Amino acid sequence: MTSQFPEARPRRLRRNASLRSLFQESEFTLNDLVLPIFVEEEIDDFVPIKSMPGVVRIPESKLAGEIERYARAGIKAVMTFGVSHHLDNDGSDTWSERGLVSRMAGICKDAVPEMIVMSDTCFCEYTDHGHCGVLHGHEVDNDRTLVNLGKQAVAAARAGADVIAPSAAMDGQVQAIRKALDEAGFSQTAIMAYSTKFASALYGPFREAGGSALKGDRKSYQMNPMNRREALRESLLDEQEGADALMVKPAGAYLDIIRDIRQASNLPLSAYQVSGEYAMIKFAAQAGAIDEARVVRESLGAIKRAGADLIFTYFAMDLALSGI
Ligand code: PBG
Ligand code: ZN
Repeated sequence: MTSQFPEARPRRLRRNASLRSLFQESEFTLNDLVLPIFVEEEIDDFVPIKSMPGVVRIPESKLAGEIERYARAGIKAVMTFGVSHHLDNDGSDTWSERGLVSRMAGICKDAVPEMIVMSDTCFCEYTDHGHCGVLHGHEVDNDRTLVNLGKQAVAAARAGADVIAPSAAMDGQVQAIRKALDEAGFSQTAIMAYSTKFASALYGPFREAGGSALKGDRKSYQMNPMNRREALRESLLDEQEGADALMVKPAGAYLDIIRDIRQASNLPLSAYQVSGEYAMIKFAAQAGAIDEARVVRESLGAIKRAGADLIFTYFAMDLALSGI
């Protein structure tokens, strides 16, 4: 028999803070968070990103010190994005052993060996046209891009990256990277696939952060935000291709997708709270409309509740310093 009011009184378990915390169902800790960082070569000072208050481009020369500071605060993992001054049609700097992708991984691992370094694996910050792969006429050439993704992944792994995180949204990218890594002797390097990546307007501030040269959009390779079945299919394809972990991006507006994938796969699942989600919270708080700390905790808690194991968030360092 199901009890109803007046027997059922859910408020009994909400009467004080001790009861509420005892019966809380979801929680996140620093162990669940990954801090995405932007590293620019050939600059001397930190550059604030106007559309992401509190986030800066880190000069390469100050990266080691920053990684040490994050580790002291309790950050366990970072994701590196390079801001390159060496752009070309294919993004060839990414697979050079002396290129920015390799240098970032090496600097981070040398500074703090136990810091988990995830190498964002794409080309849009290294191509002169700003697309995430090789441009052939007006189209991004999927299969030629796969070859380059394999080369970039091997370079990053050789430089010490723990996790390769392909975000180019090319078909077959996980399979191509797994094969390239294994053939080069990096069978222990993991792949965190950006497996369900939507063509979202919420990436707006990231384009300033990364200094993107893109004209146009990425709708021919990233997903239509209105598609739920396809979102599940994309992640399951990456599981079949050999991904070690899956991702939904963006996070907050896609909690239904996180839940769908959580139920359909046993792989670890991450969610990326993207630049626009960060900016909306920051600017609303600056305007006095919301309490920033509470909204940050609520937004990340909701992502966990939906089923994410890990969360990529630009708030990770704020949370570490405020002592979650
Ligand atoms: C590019 C990339 C993007 C982000 C991560 N990798 C932007 C895009 O796809 O246009 C977005 C991150 C963010 O907005 O915080 N491969
Ligand atoms: Zn890209």
